[in-house]
Parts: sequence; structure tokens; C-alpha cells
Amino acid sequence: MSCSLNIKNISMSRDGRELFKNISLSVSHKEKIAIIGPNGCGKTTLLETIIGLYPIREGSIELFHQKINNSNDFKSVRHMVGYLLQDSDNQFLAPIVEDDVAFSLLARGVDKNEAKAKTDAILDSLEISHLAKKVVYHLSGGEKKLVALAGVLITEPKLMLLDEPTSGLDFEMQLKLMEILKKIDKSIIIISHDKEFVESMVDAIYKISSDGLKRMSSFKTEYIHTHDGLPLHTHPHEH
Ligand SMILES: Nc1ncnc2c1ncn2[C@@H]1O[C@H](COP(=O)(O)OP(=O)(O)O)[C@@H](O)[C@H]1O
Ligand SMILES: [Mg+2]
Repeated sequence: MSCSLNIKNISMSRDGRELFKNISLSVSHKEKIAIIGPNGCGKTTLLETIIGLYPIREGSIELFHQKINNSNDFKSVRHMVGYLLQDSDNQFLAPIVEDDVAFSLLARGVDKNEAKAKTDAILDSLEISHLAKKVVYHLSGGEKKLVALAGVLITEPKLMLLDEPTSGLDFEMQLKLMEILKKIDKSIIIISHDKEFVESMVDAIYKISSDGLKRMSSFKTEYIHTHDGLPLHTHPHEH
């Protein structure tokens, strides 16, 4: 199975404070994983490190077999990576929804008509065609998130990095977004602080701890089970 991402033993400090150390992680083709941890533990920093924003002092990162030590290395694989920022307002590239969604394609030299057709298709698939002519900054948080996601999906990345995509959304919108993300057939790293929430959509959950990344047992493999002739059932479980 080909590997989208392979991280070996990286550590990261900020302002002299160690955030995490000895992080190793491998994400294979179309694998979906979640990384959880409390606020400030370095989840966003880890994603930013993966895309080469911070030089790594030890260990290694390979994205699609390209070693990533800085943002220059990242350039050659950038077209395969989609990054959904935690704050959608930081993601927008144009004030009108359809222009924003088409922006990356046009920047890559895609023909205007083709970009328009792809934009219409992606807005339709996310059920937000009615937002096409709206100003991005006038949208609700959930609408913004879907528009930002459209702008990422339209580039057809092979690996998606999603930084707390459901944070700040109301519960209904969170569920809708998770249903959409579940159907995306790509490698995905989703950052969250809510284990219960990501549990239904990923193959594995990892927690950032002081000494590395710890794989957590998941609902799917551990919670629902049967024994002693009992029907399928669950036990309360703390991690
Ligand atoms: N640009 C920055 N410069 C210095 N420190 C930062 C910067 N951004 C974040 N930090 C600090 O790094 C730590 C980890 O931040 P972050 O990776 O955003 O955590 P998380 O995403 O897990 O909440 C926090 O203590 C934060 O204050
Ligand atoms: Mg963060």
C-alpha cells in the first residue's frame, strides 16, 4: 500500500517550550486518521510542520516520498495536499463564493470554462449552489466551512489535512460536515479535540502526549463486542 505521509521521530518546540517529541506517524493511501489532544498541545503546529512551515531539528517527514524540511520542499507535493484551516476566514482567496472556490484552479492555469464547470459541480455536490454569488464574509460559520472545503476539494488533493473542521459549528452542521467527510475517498488527517466526534469517520485515532503519539483503541474495534454468549454490547470506557 503506498504511503501518503511518513513521519519519523520529530519533535517540536515553540518559544523554548517543548510541544511534542518523538512523533512518528504513517498514513497510507486513502487511510483516514484523527489526531486529538487538548488545546495548545501542538496539533496545528504538527500540521504546519508537515507542510514545511517549521524546520525540523531531528527525525524526518516524507510526503508522497518527498522529504520535507522546509516550505521549498513542500512546493513539489503541494498540489497533492489540501489544507482546511481551522478559521475559514483565513482560507478565503476571493470575496465572492464562486470566485473563491475557482481561485486555485485558475491560479494553476485551468481554463475559465472548465474552472466554472468544476466549481458548479463541487458546489452542487456539497449542496451549496445557492451560495455561489454570495459574499464569503456574510456567510454563517457552517456555510463558510463548506465553501472553504469546496475550495480545497476542487484541487483534487490526495491527502487532506483538516484542522478542527467542526469547531464552532452547531451540532446539526457538525453532523452534516462529518457525513460529507466520511464520504471523501482520500487520505485524511483530521485534527480534533473531540474523540467521540471523530470516532465514526476514521480508521485510527492518535493522541498527542508528552512522549509521542499514542494510538487509541477505537469504538469500532473495542467498544462494541460480545462475550460469554451475551449479545453485542458496550462498556463505558475512559482513556
Ligand atoms: N506563531 C506562534 N508563535 C509562537 N507560539 C505559538 C504560535 N502559534 C502557536 N503558538 C503556541 O504553540 C503552542 C501550540 O499551539 P497549537 O499548535 O496551535 O496548538 P493546538 O492546535 O493543539 O491548540 C501553544 O502554546 C501556542 O500558544
Ligand atoms: Mg489548533
